[in-house]
Amino acid sequence: MKVCRRETFNSAHRLFRKEWSDEKNRDVFGKCSNPNYHGHNYVLEVWIEGAIDPETGFVIDLKELKSVIVAHIIERFDHRNLNLDCIEFEGINPTTENIARVIWNILRVKLDPKFGIEVQLSETDKNKAYYAGV
Ligand code: NI
Repeated sequence: MKVCRRETFNSAHRLFRKEWSDEKNRDVFGKCSNPNYHGHNYVLEVWIEGAIDPETGFVIDLKELKSVIVAHIIERFDHRNLNLDCIEFEGINPTTENIARVIWNILRVKLDPKFGIEVQLSETDKNKAYYAGV
């Protein structure tokens, strides 16, 4: 059985490799390599897989899941510049893929090991990444 909590956050980023020319960065990363950064309204879905607790009828108390996501993901990344403010992205391009993986790794430590965790992160209506530990 799986249940999901959806949260949103807004962050700025820039995709680039400093050893590449401006032209190559533009070719590879497009507008996301604009030097002065830009923002996205990220939509995060965290899916938790586990057995239904016979006493509560829950896989996980979604209030508790919300608290963990807010405390460790939203507080950390919302209204931040991912490149400049967040040590998690030092030397790592904050692509949707890498942000999803960073979020999964944080949640894996914070949630009971008995749960399976899947993270889906949408950068726009059209682009999203999914990570479940592999
Ligand atoms: Ni972007």
